[in-house]
Amino acid sequence: MTAPEIRTIGVVGLGAMGSGIAQLAIEAGYATVGREVSDDLGERARERIAHFLQRKVDKGTLGVDERAAALDRLSLTTSLADFGRCDLVIEAIVEDLGAKLALFSELETIVRPDAILATNTSALSVTEIAAAVSTSERVVGMHFFNPAPLMPLVEIVQAELSSRAAVDAAYTVGERLGKRPIRCHDTPGFVVNRILIPLVNDCLRVLDEARVSPEDLDTAMTAGAGWPMGPCTLVDLVGIDVHVHASEALYEKLREPRMAPPPRIVAMKNAGLLGRKSGRGFYTYDS
Ligand code: 3HC
Repeated sequence: MTAPEIRTIGVVGLGAMGSGIAQLAIEAGYATVGREVSDDLGERARERIAHFLQRKVDKGTLGVDERAAALDRLSLTTSLADFGRCDLVIEAIVEDLGAKLALFSELETIVRPDAILATNTSALSVTEIAAAVSTSERVVGMHFFNPAPLMPLVEIVQAELSSRAAVDAAYTVGERLGKRPIRCHDTPGFVVNRILIPLVNDCLRVLDEARVSPEDLDTAMTAGAGWPMGPCTLVDLVGIDVHVHASEALYEKLREPRMAPPPRIVAMKNAGLLGRKSGRGFYTYDS
């Protein structure tokens, strides 16, 4: 396949990751269509993006006019039909294989035949997601890291049937978004999560083994290992539910005990302690 020149990007799902990706796209000059399931959720994402762009203006790293122009490039919709004009659609919905398969098979009936479809999945197989469409060669992984506007990496994941053109086009978009893209194949957890998930799970097991507090564990890993944030703060940021799901997905594929989520964190998920987004995880948050 020949990849189109990417001018318009669609983002499906404007939660923490999707809104961060949409922010990157509008800042990089792309016309961007963001889709949420309700107008309210879409507006919430726009406000979140407007807030972070305002912080950049306050700090003098973005002009007032540039902020306004970036926000003008964002259009919100609740309808997938609006992705008909997109050259690249990035999916950032819930980490549920069934939901992603249904979405990709619907997207295939809407987007142009040469448009590229990307998934931001953390731990599901891009190849399995690509199987939902008859033109699997146009499907790739574009795995961003939380918080997407701040973390420099994007993993460009080549699935079993991804075409070279689609992978190259996604890589070029990653560069234009200001990221440091890397190429990798579709193995469980790709590169970073394959390493980070068992490592963070080890940290959480040490909480009980060494009878150390979350604060002290975080201090241990920031002050003793040079991590930018401690594991408890990190899991609160990523989302306890997201971390449990990614751990379970990797454990299912690899059967390595270190991948399995420690019982303590599964109990937290079941109790609704989801981290920052629910106001409480290892720590308590204002909003
Ligand atoms: N979106 C957009 N902008 C944001 C933001 C967000 N979510 N969060 C913060 N910002 C902006 C804010 O405007 C903030 O300034 P303000 O507080 O004055 O308004 C500005 O960025 C700078 O924020 P910080 O001062 O908090 O930045 P730091 O220098 O402290 O760095 C960090 C923050 C980059 C998050 C750093 O702590 C870090 O690198 N942490 C590690 C994060 C990490 O490991 N992420 C990967 C998680 S794993 C993953 O995502 C995989 C997935 O598949 C699960």
